[in-house]
Parts: sequence; structure tokens; C-alpha cells
Amino acid sequence: MREITWLPGDGIGPEIAQATLRVLEASGVSLRLDEQKAGLSAVEAHGEPLPRKVIDSIRRTGVALKGPLTTPSGVGFRSINVALRQEFDLYANVRPVRTLFAGRYQDIDLVLVRENTEGLYVGVEHYIGVGSDRKAAAESVMIVTRFGAERIVRYAFDYARRMRRRKVTLVHKANILKLTQGLILEAGREIAKQYPDIAFEDRIIDATAMQLVLDPSRFDVLVTENMFGDILSDQMAGLVGGLGFAPAANVGGEVAIFEAVHGSAPDIAGQGVANPTALMLAACLMLEHLGEDDAATRMRAAVEGVWREGRVRTRDAGGQATTAQFTDAVIAKLRR
Ligand code: NAI
Ligand code: MG
Repeated sequence: MREITWLPGDGIGPEIAQATLRVLEASGVSLRLDEQKAGLSAVEAHGEPLPRKVIDSIRRTGVALKGPLTTPSGVGFRSINVALRQEFDLYANVRPVRTLFAGRYQDIDLVLVRENTEGLYVGVEHYIGVGSDRKAAAESVMIVTRFGAERIVRYAFDYARRMRRRKVTLVHKANILKLTQGLILEAGREIAKQYPDIAFEDRIIDATAMQLVLDPSRFDVLVTENMFGDILSDQMAGLVGGLGFAPAANVGGEVAIFEAVHGSAPDIAGQGVANPTALMLAACLMLEHLGEDDAATRMRAAVEGVWREGRVRTRDAGGQATTAQFTDAVIAKLRR
């Protein structure tokens, strides 16, 4: 039986993790869960946010499904999500968005591939003092390596080919940041030649943000650097109803970690009203990664079916259903 690392997480995490587990069980797939704590719950239980045994577990199983983790604020405290991405070199952050219920747009089906380890988010920052003013200025360094640029672009093209997608759009700002962004654009143009079966275009980030709102159907797979991807992926989640609908896969050479894009939602934690859709869809991505395509397809169809019917909606989508009622509806569909 395949073992995975199971991290329910903080805030609404345990509620949506429990809901997702019920659906996974109903899907008939057999998984052994190695349950671990990270984030605030690990600070409370073990005095540290990312205990060694969590890392060891993920290294052993190679696959984790995680709920959102609260990053306790405090000087010098690193985001655990960033720490996990760095520890396992999870360089590709894959974020699919699809229309699940009628909103502003019909039939949105986009995938963002975000570089997850470089760019401005390496966090190389410092103050520059002038005279007695030690904080007269501040500087952050954007790091792009040819290796990193080529590997994320290649990942996007391989993904497009595997998923039978037609086009890759590379999103950048090489008109201004000629070296860092230029390196990514160069990698895109070079590697695109090796994938004649997939259309390629490049587009400036600001124009892309506008076009995504005007006419999202012109896009298919988008690939971009870390910070642009962070921002665009939330925008894309907004196109399909919000953060409650956006799953993500963090993929590296040896390890993959699946999660919802949203955070621990402390404002609604403990009320039993969180929308578990994003984590359920992340579980579907995990099942596909594990080669459990049949279970993944059935589980996704059940989640999407509940939304298409539109009778059972959670509060964030204008409905009244609790997390448990939504989950019951998904399980009823699975069993049908
Ligand atoms: P958030 O995503 O937790 O919440 C933003 C808003 O969206 C809130 O109003 C929340 O109620 C709502 N929301 C989010 N997910 C929802 C769901 N599934 N169903 C219904 N409503 C939902 O972002 P926020 O408040 O900025 O961050 C809270 C904590 O989460 C912070 O400690 C942050 O560091 C952490 N975080 C963790 C992430 C992760 O583990 N991958 C990602 C983003 C934030
Ligand atoms: Mg983000």
C-alpha cells in the first residue's frame, strides 16, 4: 500500500483535511497515512515549526498532502512553506484553475507553472545606510540562474505535452529587467524549438494581468518566475470563484507536496464552514502523481459535479452548506 505524509495543518486545516480524507476513503483508493504536525500545531506540540521527523517522513514517502500552515509572526521566523520548498528543491509550483460554477466567466481551464525557488523570493535583502540614517534605503536581490530558468520552462513544456495542452505562454518583464527576466525569456525561446507540437508565445506581466481579466480563453499553460506567479495565480483563482477553489502541486525531482493555495483562514477556523474544494482537488492532483488516475478522475468528477449542480454551496460561494454537508454531497456523488 502506498504511504504518504499527511499534514492536516493549522486553522481550517484539520477541518478540510478531515473532509478530504473522507472523500479519499470513499473513492476506494488505499493509502497509508503517516500523520505529522508542522506549523503552529508543531510549535505547540514540539516547540518548533518544522520538526526533523516531518522532513524525514516526506523524504521517505516522497509525497505529502498538506493543509495550510500558519506562519507564526516574529522576527527571523521563516515561512515553513518556503522552507519545505527549499529543503526538497520543489522548483515547480503547478496551479490549475477551472470553472466549477457559473460566474463571470465560462469554461476557464488554465494552468500556471510558477518557478518556486528563485527570483526575489530568495529573500536576499539588506538596508543601505546614509549618514546616521541606517534605513535610508533597502535592497532586495532577484536571482535567476540559467539552470533554474531552463528547468522551469522545460517543466512547463513537458507538462503541456503530457496533459495534451496546446500552448505555453511565458510571462516576464524582460523589457525592463533585461538580464534576469531576459535570461528566462531566452530559455523560453530556445526550449520552445524542441516542442514544435506546442505553440509558444511570450507576454509582459502587466499586459498578461489585463488580458487574463478581458479574455482568459486566450491562455492555456502559463509559465513565469516566482513573484509574478504568486500574484497571477491568486488572480487566476479569482477568475473561478476565489481561493477556496485553487489547488497546487509543489514538484521537485524526488518529492511532491500537494496543497490548497489558500492559507489557514483564522477568521473562520473552528466553525465548520470552510470550503474544502481546493484541498480535495489537490488530493486529485496527488492521486494522478501516484498513478491512481481512475480514483483521481472519479473524485474530481464528484467534486465538480456538486458545484455544477449548485445546490450545495459553501459560504464563500454564496451558499449555506457546512464543510461536512458539502463533503456528504461529494461522497453521495462518488457512491452513485
Ligand atoms: P487565507 O488564505 O488564510 O485567508 C484569506 C481569506 O480567504 C480569509 O477571509 C479566509 O476566510 C478566506 N478563505 C481562505 N481559504 C478559505 C476556504 N477554504 N474556505 C472559505 N474561505 C477561505 O490568507 P491569510 O489570512 O492571509 O493567511 C492566514 C495564515 O495562513 C497566515 O499565517 C499565512 O502565513 C498562512 N498561509 C499559509 C499558506 C500555506 O500553508 N500554503 C498559504 C497562504 C497563507
Ligand atoms: Mg501566494
